[in-house]
Amino acid sequence: MPAKVVVIGSLNMDLVTRASRLPHAGETLIGQTFSTVPGGKGANQAVAAARLGGEVAMIGCVGTDAYGSQLREALLFEGIDCQAVSSVAGSSGVALIVVDDSSQNAIVIVAGSNGALTPASLQAFDAVLQGADVIVCQLEVPMDTVGYALKRGRELGKTVILNPAPASAPLPAEWYALIDYLIPNESEASALSGVMVDSLDSAKEAATRLIEAGAGKVIVTLGAQGALFADGQGFERLVAPKVKAVDTTAAGDTFVGGFAAALSAGKSEAEAIRFGQVAAALSVTRAGAQPSIPTLHDVQGFVAS
Ligand code: RIB
Repeated sequence: MPAKVVVIGSLNMDLVTRASRLPHAGETLIGQTFSTVPGGKGANQAVAAARLGGEVAMIGCVGTDAYGSQLREALLFEGIDCQAVSSVAGSSGVALIVVDDSSQNAIVIVAGSNGALTPASLQAFDAVLQGADVIVCQLEVPMDTVGYALKRGRELGKTVILNPAPASAPLPAEWYALIDYLIPNESEASALSGVMVDSLDSAKEAATRLIEAGAGKVIVTLGAQGALFADGQGFERLVAPKVKAVDTTAAGDTFVGGFAAALSAGKSEAEAIRFGQVAAALSVTRAGAQPSIPTLHDVQGFVAS
């Protein structure tokens, strides 16, 4: 059966330490724990979509190191179609992550094999794209690959989602018209729009500029403050469930994957946003990237409680 959600993006092995606080420049801190955890924004979003009820395929690249096979196995375990996850000579992507006692994190990524995902890789797996209802991209693979995916998704008439993460600069102007749902967090919305997003009003201003640039609809995720939905007609602020945060890593990925899975299941936008919010809230109550992502059963249990 064709996959309804196709995620094009990164797979990283996360090398995670917990420390009382994040280090300052030039400082050596004593950490409390260390673990290796499957992550990468693309893979996390694929896992989220699969655990939350989607039929999912991933398009990406792993290296020929031990991490590569572990990252692929982690996706296969979730029932994700990995025929388009290629192995390329060299190291897999890694992310160096520090999580502090207030559950915030700092992350440095090294692309490794994610850098080998080219437009030609996507052309080779065009049948996978054709089988999608929803196509999901982020920015941890080469920009020309993301641009190709957005364009091909639009040509095929798919629902195209871009989570512009990580972002430190505006997107290519021609991308906006190819995107149905643009889902930045506050800092990404700031980088894309030029508006410093630090309040609901500034999030509205940033979302307005992104829609004026051509994006179909914009969802600015605001962490514990919820999310702002904008469609060019108006705004809706959606409040997030209150939870005790342990680790926010992959919360945004869980939202995006949950939102995509819900849309592919025929839910309305508003239902899909609320579903993604509950899933993301549950994810921050647990440590790690993929280990923290809840199942559909978890979300249904939370909603019923
Ligand atoms: O969004 C969280 C992810 O960002 C981590 O899993 C890490 O791999 C980085 O890509």
